[in-house]
Amino acid sequence: MMTRENYLNQLHIKKELKDKMINDKYRLNFHLMPPSGWLNDPNGLCQFKGTNHIYYQYSPFTTGWGMKLWGHYTTTDWVTYQDCEPFLFSDIPEDTDGVYSGSAFIKNDKIYYYYTGNVKYLDGDYDYINNGREQNVIFITSEDGYSHTSKKIVLRNENYPENMSCHVRDPQIFKEDSLYYMVLGARTKDDEGCVLIYCSENLENWNYHMTIGIGEKFGYMWECPAIIDFSGKKYLLVCPQGVSQNGYDFANIYQTGMFEIDLNLKEKVYVLKAFKELDRGFDIYAPQVFKDENQRTILIGWMGIPDADYTNEPTVEKGWHHALTMPRELKIIDGKICQKPLNEFKKLRVSENKNIDCSVENAEIEVEFYSCKKLEIILRDEIEITFENEILTLNLEKCGYGRTTRSVNISTLNNLQIFLDNSCIEIFVNSGEEVFSSRCYCKNLNIDLKVNGIYNANITWYELQKFIIEEK
Ligand code: FRU
Repeated sequence: MMTRENYLNQLHIKKELKDKMINDKYRLNFHLMPPSGWLNDPNGLCQFKGTNHIYYQYSPFTTGWGMKLWGHYTTTDWVTYQDCEPFLFSDIPEDTDGVYSGSAFIKNDKIYYYYTGNVKYLDGDYDYINNGREQNVIFITSEDGYSHTSKKIVLRNENYPENMSCHVRDPQIFKEDSLYYMVLGARTKDDEGCVLIYCSENLENWNYHMTIGIGEKFGYMWECPAIIDFSGKKYLLVCPQGVSQNGYDFANIYQTGMFEIDLNLKEKVYVLKAFKELDRGFDIYAPQVFKDENQRTILIGWMGIPDADYTNEPTVEKGWHHALTMPRELKIIDGKICQKPLNEFKKLRVSENKNIDCSVENAEIEVEFYSCKKLEIILRDEIEITFENEILTLNLEKCGYGRTTRSVNISTLNNLQIFLDNSCIEIFVNSGEEVFSSRCYCKNLNIDLKVNGIYNANITWYELQKFIIEEK
């Protein structure tokens, strides 16, 4: 457990980590990183009364996998942020081993939160898959996003279908007609990934409704699911674990993507269409999507991944680990799901440059191609982006701490938008039809842009300034 009181008593450890972080050259300037220690999934994303709440899985006192709280950032403009006290602590028997991932749902003037209370038994010989673990769905509400009501357990292991293992977690809520639905990621006893749907009339009493899977195996566990509605279609966002690599696809240990889904909740029938990987980079997992008050569909991911064979050693030595991606607006362009960095990020631009002489450390680089047959972009001497024979490749062998190459097939390269922060890169290809998010640790942070190849393009780069983060 880590109650608020335990947390406050250990703040000296946070201070020690923060002291180490201060002069780390790899600190991020325009990405959210943990104030200290470890961060993973974004949680409870929502905009409420103008304020965007970005909660996240947070272990403040360790750079490794530790006790999870919900850390908390807020912003109204995506440039200035408040670093708030953690929102959720582990303080009841049902979340004794961590307040795991969950989401927010806004109704009238209240935020309804649902999260997974993790419990791991230590009194016996368990496999922790089919036994030894509780995954409780816990419910709270808030009228301001900062304080919450007392915790209520709405689902426990015995409420899950008979054929489920103990891995059932990460609730997300949506409304259809006059009913509420909860989506949960799950692993069956036969090691098939699926999602469970529960139904409620009042957001408090939930009944099992249906299971969605794809029959033939597509991974053994599906984490962090969500059913989202945008551009007139429904999608199932999910992170399958255990899908084998297929050419350039599914190159990471765990996957992040979206099925388009025809879902008839009344009849309990569905058709899952093709799965689209959302990001081709090394560091992407557990994204969440929310609709802001302008009805934009915004996605933020964890710019990290569990169990990878590459590391982030340079920041771990400096007291912190992992980050969140930039927020991206999801759009359908020519029938394809595209991701676009939020317009607000334009406010970070401090200068517009048309020459290629990019001798700054943080920048956004836009390349508009009239034609491109062959291309090689080198950044910071060590990051290589190439395009040849319809294959776009990011090569991080020189600065990736075990990261090698990731590629995607693209018939024509129309444009690139590259964001370089001190220790990460996000590349948006063809207006966000493909994205690469990765951590990288170059020796020299000066961008020193070099472009070679057979191409005709218009290149613009902008120096970027950093977020303003205030401790609240
Ligand atoms: C995904 C995940 C979730 C879980 C959380 C724990 O990265 O494993 O399934 O709720 O992280 O931190």
